[in-house]
Amino acid sequence: MRSDANAAGPMTDPVPGPRSESTGGDVSRETLPPMDDTPIGRAAQLAVEALGRAGEGLPRPDQTRVMVVANQKGGVGKTTTTVNLAASLALHGGRVLVVDLDPQGNASTALGIDHHAEVPSIYDVLVEGKPLSDVVQPVHDVEGLFCAPATIDLAGAEIELVSLVARESRLQRAIEAYEQPLDYILIDCPPSLGLLTVNALVAGAEVLIPIQCEYYALEGLGQLLRNVDLVRGHLNPKLHVSTILLTMYDGRTRLAAQVAEEVRSHFGAEVLRTSIPRSVRISEAPSYGQTVLTYDPGSSGALSYLEAAREMALRGAGGGLNVEYDGQDAHIARQNNEYGQHSMSEGIK
Ligand SMILES: Nc1ncnc2c1ncn2[C@@H]1O[C@H](COP(=O)(O)OP(=O)(O)OP(=O)(O)O)[C@@H](O)[C@H]1O
Ligand SMILES: [Mg+2]
Repeated sequence: MRSDANAAGPMTDPVPGPRSESTGGDVSRETLPPMDDTPIGRAAQLAVEALGRAGEGLPRPDQTRVMVVANQKGGVGKTTTTVNLAASLALHGGRVLVVDLDPQGNASTALGIDHHAEVPSIYDVLVEGKPLSDVVQPVHDVEGLFCAPATIDLAGAEIELVSLVARESRLQRAIEAYEQPLDYILIDCPPSLGLLTVNALVAGAEVLIPIQCEYYALEGLGQLLRNVDLVRGHLNPKLHVSTILLTMYDGRTRLAAQVAEEVRSHFGAEVLRTSIPRSVRISEAPSYGQTVLTYDPGSSGALSYLEAAREMALRGAGGGLNVEYDGQDAHIARQNNEYGQHSMSEGIK
């Protein structure tokens, strides 16, 4: 894996030139006059204008940052976070690869990548030993963004991998052998802690955990942290939880605020200041094969992912602390009892 993507200097403003003053959350698809540009040119321009930080540029990482987006709890926003952060980083001029490691193939769908059964996919890489470069496809709408798609074949991989040599490190080897320069690799994990997720944890240095701001938000987190510890202890000493992102935050509810507060007080520095609001635009975008960055660049969802990506880039690989699992689940559980019978800690084991 080459990590000299930064040879070109800092991640630059993808759309240089003058900016309008009207930046901010009200720049949206519905309110803007039609533009004659290409769709992606318009989208990128709007996204960066909406961010309101034109020309600031983002630092490129010294080495490729391989980030594992994991949480075995289903539907917490892993895929949404993977594709939207990846698009945000690419719109800032980074070279970003999304590895779809979920047999559901949702990340591939959201990036508009064909992933029917015959398409060369991450299954071929993991099980057949194909080079990653044979399956990576460019994402049409966003320059610098690439995807290694998942097909339904991947559903059998958990079992097929069991009997293969170096079954836990097949993705890591494929990434190491990948020749293209990249700033970021984001790996979208399935909602389980099987061999696919273990392959991701062995391949990456950083774990990014999306946490949904609702009841049971921390359910199973202890198990994930224990797995991170196990992989760090036995297979990948670099591995650490660097980033926690609060997703589907509904500012109107007290519960969301309570959950956010709890997560922040427990994890502190790893939690990004930016949280992702619940947004219809975010949930609509995948059905158009798009990220929210191109679907509605001025929406609150797009802005928050851009901001989260910016925070992530500025913190750099060493920005987070090492989250050690030290039996703190009990502490979480105790604290959560004050939330009554719907304690979000239920299920933390
Ligand atoms: N901020 C948000 N606002 C509104 N809807 C959202 C938001 N984030 C995610 N969603 C929606 O919630 C659902 C679950 O999100 P997503 O698929 O990203 O979760 P996941 O953790 O990848 O799920 P799985 O565990 O099945 O892989 C999707 O329908 C998605 O569109
Ligand atoms: Mg998913």
